[in-house]
Amino acid sequence: MIETMVLPDADSVGAHAADILDEAARSGSRALGLATGSSTDPIYSELVRRHGGRDNPYRKMQFYLLDEYVGLPVGHPERYAEVIRRSFADPLGIPFSRVHAPDVDASDAGRAAAAFEQEIADAGGIEVQLLGVGGNGHIAFNEPGTPFESRTRVVELAARTRQDNARFFGGDVGSVPRRAMSQGIATILGARRIVLVATGRAKAEAVAALMESRPTRLLPVSALHAHPAVTMLLDRDAASGIEADHVAGEQVRAGRCA
Ligand code: GLP
Repeated sequence: MIETMVLPDADSVGAHAADILDEAARSGSRALGLATGSSTDPIYSELVRRHGGRDNPYRKMQFYLLDEYVGLPVGHPERYAEVIRRSFADPLGIPFSRVHAPDVDASDAGRAAAAFEQEIADAGGIEVQLLGVGGNGHIAFNEPGTPFESRTRVVELAARTRQDNARFFGGDVGSVPRRAMSQGIATILGARRIVLVATGRAKAEAVAALMESRPTRLLPVSALHAHPAVTMLLDRDAASGIEADHVAGEQVRAGRCA
């Protein structure tokens, strides 16, 4: 079941997601799943604002990335591990060895993907998985058409995804990698709790489709309907395409007034 909350803006979405993570960290969770992209940025900024430079419960945890581009050199600023180092791990004093990403440089990608799955299993599974959604409904880099049983593997990026992500590469779609190693949909659904964040008009269509759709592989995010504990945090723009009766009463307490 997807609990939906509409918040005034992206910063409020970030703050609410940070509350959920703080609670998980304080209650002794060992492993969190991290996403990259503009939607999750305000969450990391908020965590750094709250805890940066201080001892904090995150220092003792392990972190698992959803996906990683194939073909960017180690240290490239858009490599997702590097993004997480910059925006999350370093400012929170978390040793980078606690940030786990699929090994996209391995000579045997299949083995590396299986090893990543094993790492997550060895950590006891993911307690809270942060998730964004692509404009085409993808989660991680599971593009439309991906089977719900999929697990970590190398994938091809959809043309729309490369176009959407060109903004991180100076607007040059040719610089956006064509492939990535991504957790599969089944891997993502293995998390005990999922926090999906979506902000901005560009996500309104995917969010509305999710609310109206039964689970279908044409809309990867719709797989979340099968998960027992999903919280979806939206700003008003991302929620602009959904009917009010899809949204839980909880939003009132969260400060939504329109
Ligand atoms: C990217 C990532 C996803 C992310 C999504 C939305 O391509 N692979 O994990 O959630 O697309 O990104 P953004 O938040 O930048 O819109």
